[in-house]
Amino acid sequence: MRELGKHFFIAAVCFLSACTIAVAQNADWTTIHNGIEWTDTEGYIVQAHGGNFLQHGDRWYLIGEDRARSWNPDVNLYSTDDFVTWKFEGKIIKNFVTHEALGNTRMIERPKLMYNNKTRKFVVWCHWEARDYSASEAAVFESDSVAGPYECVWTGRPCDTKSRDCNVFVDNDGQAYFISTTDENTNLGLFKLSDDYHAAVSKTLLFEGQRREAPAIAHIGDTYYMISSACTGWDPNQAKIATSDAIDKNWSPLENIGDRIAFDTQASSILTIKGTEQTAYIYVGDRWMDPDLPRSKIIMLPIFFENGKMVLRYYDSWQIDLKRGLIRTP
Ligand code: DGJ
Repeated sequence: MRELGKHFFIAAVCFLSACTIAVAQNADWTTIHNGIEWTDTEGYIVQAHGGNFLQHGDRWYLIGEDRARSWNPDVNLYSTDDFVTWKFEGKIIKNFVTHEALGNTRMIERPKLMYNNKTRKFVVWCHWEARDYSASEAAVFESDSVAGPYECVWTGRPCDTKSRDCNVFVDNDGQAYFISTTDENTNLGLFKLSDDYHAAVSKTLLFEGQRREAPAIAHIGDTYYMISSACTGWDPNQAKIATSDAIDKNWSPLENIGDRIAFDTQASSILTIKGTEQTAYIYVGDRWMDPDLPRSKIIMLPIFFENGKMVLRYYDSWQIDLKRGLIRTP
């Protein structure tokens, strides 16, 4: 009997090992680490803050502020296929080079990259600011290829509106929006963009008087989700979420999401990763001034939906199977 039990035990161990090997072979888990500086393939720290991600071809592109120069960021571009290995594609917008005012009377913050399927151009919208934040303008740059060269298309106030912290959102039908904190940080302005993404053609004010900034939007199923921050400068605060069935109206009241300081971040984007088994959503935030601006961190957290609500939790590290769209947390 003891002998039979031993054989059964050995057979069971072999079966479980075979299963583990099979699962390991099918799975392709990438581990995302938070709270550390990411390095590129040349060993330099990834400098791409306040930016966003664009999936194009078989790669993901990350655009963002190069804060190594602290107060006058150039705009960097990286590419990756696993969110861990970062290839530096170059400085796509450069102080003194791309525009004569840049580095002199103007600086760029929160650059956001889009691809326009109709014009087949890459378009960047960003905050275009003076040192004392009195300009409150935006700027648009465009290029035929993702890594540039980018040329300035326009600078100014969208729909004549003072505009600061910003983001973009491209809906499923290709309609693009610029969304920014307007009117001295009082409202959020949702600006519908022209077909070529060059101009803001109409404006809707959202969350009027509620002083929101760092907005990040996702369209999931029939619902629009917007995560935003209060206006506390570079300091983190309680992030809030709102939902709607239409991007320009019907937004629900703001509700808390995450911890009371958004896990020491401010939102920069919400990533949608379409896998073969499910779609994964990832919150991307900037951990500014950690401990100083050039050492700001990019934080990526899996988004969960529980009882119909979006939920964020903090993980120092977690895993994603990019092909299948699956998420695994400790
Ligand atoms: C205020 C925002 O809260 C910060 O995230 C950062 O974008 C600064 N503006 C930049 O001026």
